[in-house]
Amino acid sequence: MRLSVIGCGYLGAVHAAAMASLGHDVIGVDVDRDRIAALAGGRAPFFEPGLPELLRDGLASGQLTFSTDVRDAAGAAVHFLAVGTPQRQGASAADLSYVDSAVDALLPVLRPGDVVAGKSTVPVGTAARLADAVERTGASLTWNPEFLREGWAVHDTLTPDRIVVGVGTGDGGAPTPDGLRAAGMLREVYATALGVGTPWIVTDLATAELVKVAANAFLATKISFINAMAEIAEVTGADVTTLADAIGHDDRIGRRFLGAGIGFGGGCLPKDIRAFAARAEELGRGESVGFLRAVDEINLRRRDRAVELVQQALGGAVHGRRVTVLGAAFKPHSDDVRDSPALHVATRLHGLGAVVTVTDPAAIENARRVSPQLTYVHDRDEALRDADAVVLVTEWDQYRRELSPQHLATLTAGRVIVDGRNGLDAAAWRAAGFAYYGMGRP
Ligand code: UGA
Repeated sequence: MRLSVIGCGYLGAVHAAAMASLGHDVIGVDVDRDRIAALAGGRAPFFEPGLPELLRDGLASGQLTFSTDVRDAAGAAVHFLAVGTPQRQGASAADLSYVDSAVDALLPVLRPGDVVAGKSTVPVGTAARLADAVERTGASLTWNPEFLREGWAVHDTLTPDRIVVGVGTGDGGAPTPDGLRAAGMLREVYATALGVGTPWIVTDLATAELVKVAANAFLATKISFINAMAEIAEVTGADVTTLADAIGHDDRIGRRFLGAGIGFGGGCLPKDIRAFAARAEELGRGESVGFLRAVDEINLRRRDRAVELVQQALGGAVHGRRVTVLGAAFKPHSDDVRDSPALHVATRLHGLGAVVTVTDPAAIENARRVSPQLTYVHDRDEALRDADAVVLVTEWDQYRRELSPQHLATLTAGRVIVDGRNGLDAAAWRAAGFAYYGMGRP
């Protein structure tokens, strides 16, 4: 099929390249000239495992092209909207200006029968608001939320664990004939995944929008739940990691996303729970998701807790002490530093007068742009040399698995390790002579 993808950030660039790899003819469109130049030249504008290979193959076969001109999207049967919906400046709500301008730009190229498939994470009700303008062109609007994780984006796009499509519905909630036709076209787009039994859920527009924010709100709540348990563990001497293992054996609970530590960040979870709460307020149902405020607060407190632990470990004050921060990205396998808990901890320590050195295998350039006041060192061991304390804040394998206490002891001045992700074997570090501090662990 001929497809267009409007917006080529983390979501759109991966979607475009993945769809081309399935045999579709795809054009990716973005207003950012540098990003399009990079993609058209076969260079991924961000770190995402597997993307460079897909770009190379798609460009070589001619099935993947890029443009800054939305008119080049004309002729595609399905147009995916994959622009960002960041947090609005000075507010909790989502900034929908990129979605609105993408739709406005797309309207003149739409033909009767085309399908517009929104993938951006939007407040519930957005699709209904956009539908009239799209339908006046004879095209149909659907909402097809995306659940990919950064760092696993190619895998998640090619082998999703479910595909959700919201379509126009009539009285009684059943899809309209036009909605069914649009869903049928998306079925063709995703034929490969559907062929191996991927669950396929056709619903109304509001449910599809809500599925996405509900999923992210649930994941954020799960993380903050275990971090709340970490806070209780800290005053009782309990160990939150053993607690997580024990409750996680219950299938109804599950162990995933029960990793206690400095909490969640990134371009999705934090802004999505805030936008959801803001939208619920607008709908007069603020109290229904009132717990999301607590989820956000617990999450932010854990960053402060990591800073406190470093202070405690260094005898009460960090001023003038050398602290090496392992990690800047909001999670491993990513160079994304948006709302990164790791960078937050590093900048707080710097603000308290510590001499902070930050290292990260992928995110240094992005981190330097948002926090230029910090010292960055690419080489891990160089960054660790002479440190009084080391803080692990992004659990890259280079820090969690491949750094032994024996090796670290040859580099640092002090013997202090603060494990902001509970990724290290506390007993092994203590046995090697380190003062080990975990999050919610004795
Ligand atoms: C998240 C969702 O997991 C995706 O399903 C969704 O599609 C995406 O947002 C989105 O809306 O686009 P992502 O932001 O890539 O994906 O990151 P996650 O893997 O969810 O991790 C989020 C944060 O939670 C990271 O900072 C991570 O370190 C933290 N985390 C994760 C924990 O603190 N503990 C855990 O147990 C798991």
